[in-house]
Amino acid sequence: MSENFRAIVVKKNHDQFDIDINERMISDLPDGELLVRVEYSSLNYKDALSASGARGVTKNYPHTPGIDAAGVVEESNEKDFPIGSSVIVTGFDLGMNTSGGFSEYIRIPSQWAIQCPDGLSTKESMMLGTAGLTAGLAVDSIKNTFDIKDAKVVVSGATGGVGSIGVNLLSHLGAKVTAITGKIDEKRFLKKLGATEIIERDHFIKATKLPLNKGVYNAALDVVGGSMLSSILSSMYQNGIITVCGNVGGPKFETTVFPFILRGNSLVGIDSANSPIDKRKMIWKHFSSDWKLDGLEKYSKIVDLENLIPEIKNILAGKQTGRIILKL
Ligand SMILES: NC(=O)c1ccc[n+]([C@@H]2O[C@H](COP(=O)([O-])OP(=O)(O)OC[C@H]3O[C@@H](n4cnc5c(N)ncnc54)[C@H](OP(=O)(O)O)[C@@H]3O)[C@@H](O)[C@H]2O)c1
Repeated sequence: MSENFRAIVVKKNHDQFDIDINERMISDLPDGELLVRVEYSSLNYKDALSASGARGVTKNYPHTPGIDAAGVVEESNEKDFPIGSSVIVTGFDLGMNTSGGFSEYIRIPSQWAIQCPDGLSTKESMMLGTAGLTAGLAVDSIKNTFDIKDAKVVVSGATGGVGSIGVNLLSHLGAKVTAITGKIDEKRFLKKLGATEIIERDHFIKATKLPLNKGVYNAALDVVGGSMLSSILSSMYQNGIITVCGNVGGPKFETTVFPFILRGNSLVGIDSANSPIDKRKMIWKHFSSDWKLDGLEKYSKIVDLENLIPEIKNILAGKQTGRIILKL
């Protein structure tokens, strides 16, 4: 193992944040039981926030973002993670205030890692990444409420990371999926993922009467928040479940008690970063077996460290379609 490795490094330069590729030293990495040689990482919206100075995500710079990593253990003090084993690490503090996965090496506490399950490669695990885990947690909540087969489920931000895997997984499980998107020219992509109906974002919001519209959906996976969430809440049938994980459209939303007390709807928050390890193992096991998604490769763009930098700017501008995978 070489003492030097390459990583993305974000530096604060007055009010600006400059992104570059630097040589770093293994000895600079934080303490932790596992040293992992990263094979793949993936780009999530939170990484772009970290790379652009969002204080709610990262406080101290220089910093290496990357909330996801999958690779091979090279040093270990834990018998559950022998040297040479493949691991998946997503969330907790990785890439926030702990040096992250946009790097050839990470060092982490063993409690953040899970063994890559049989039937799932490190590359496939990062084609899913935090986006997949989040969509998986949302789908698990929906499944615990009613039978997903033939249910009408609406997904917002449908062409993005969480949204596209949500559409793919829900249709794989037999749901009738309505995809809401700002990129109406990506209709073919959404149809291929399995969406049965596609609605343009602004049209959906303008056509919805608040606080109660006609009930149309049994369940929702919302990554947008803001007025999108207000409209989704008003469009649910009786006893619907609305899973909420994101705020790309804003954190505030408008509603009343009526979707809850007249229709028995439930609003469920999804927090993948701090989800318990047993739940993660269960979701990743599903992804390696009965939730194994066809064609992940088709919806993923593989980039190296150099080509990741423009993608960080793209995702921040809401322009991402599918998943960006970093190969190290
Ligand atoms: N709670 C958790 O555990 C968790 C985990 C992962 C992500 N998240 C959050 O979920 C959200 C999505 O993350 P992601 O990684 O999937 O990001 P992403 O790949 O950028 O996808 C977000 C999608 O939302 C839509 N969008 C973007 N800007 C918008 C705007 N201003 N108004 C309305 N829609 C907009 C776009 O899709 P269309 O063009 O198709 O509409 C975009 O592709 C983020 O807020 C992220 O922080 C939360």
